[in-house]
Amino acid sequence: MRESVWLLPLGKLDGDARAIKLGEVALLGVADGQQEFVGDPLRMVLVGLEEESRHPFVIDTNGTAVGVFTLQSGAARLAGWPDDDSAWLLRGFLIDRRRQGLGFGTLAAVAAVREAAKLTADLGTGQTGVVLSVNERNPAGQAAYRKAGFEDRGRYDGGDAGPQRTMYHGFQPGHRL
Ligand SMILES: CC(C)(COP(=O)(O)OP(=O)(O)OC[C@H]1O[C@@H](n2cnc3c(N)ncnc32)[C@H](O)[C@@H]1OP(=O)(O)O)[C@@H](O)C(=O)NCCC(=O)NCCS
Repeated sequence: MRESVWLLPLGKLDGDARAIKLGEVALLGVADGQQEFVGDPLRMVLVGLEEESRHPFVIDTNGTAVGVFTLQSGAARLAGWPDDDSAWLLRGFLIDRRRQGLGFGTLAAVAAVREAAKLTADLGTGQTGVVLSVNERNPAGQAAYRKAGFEDRGRYDGGDAGPQRTMYHGFQPGHRL
């Protein structure tokens, strides 16, 4: 049976648990050639902890960090969305190179949408889904998001590393959390 993933909201962990997870995040890395698609995992989560609009998560399996991502409010235009506030921005998503290809990316992307829906319900911020941009030269990223139910919403030319695809996953109306 495939292992499942757990999402740990770093900002909500107590000091000791957070320090342990940050230590594990510091050991994560992507494969050669993938660095242009994503930033350094530790730096990204540390920035996320400093900013109120950002919610950094650790992707855990069997009690160990295998990846990270951040949900950010008020920033959806960065993924080519027409406005900033109607969708969460999913950014900084990665799975450690030694654990890629095992389905964790797909599982974590599905779970990220669930977490985003919960955040909207908790915070009352009104988003209707999650948006991201993924490089056109990043087939693994596009495949993982597609398998997780994200729809391609067209080309976005705003990225530093060349043309991106804007991908969106709406929350199910009336979905019970
Ligand atoms: C994108 C990423 C998170 C996917 O994580 P993952 O755990 O490897 O994803 P999964 O194992 O769920 O694989 C998802 C699909 O991608 C496919 N895939 C993986 N590598 C691929 C490649 N190089 N080319 C084409 N498809 C690929 C897999 O085959 C799988 O589809 P399948 O189940 O039909 O075979 C991971 O590759 C990663 O961290 N990449 C570097 C950072 C990055 O690009 N992040 C996204 C920024 S938007």
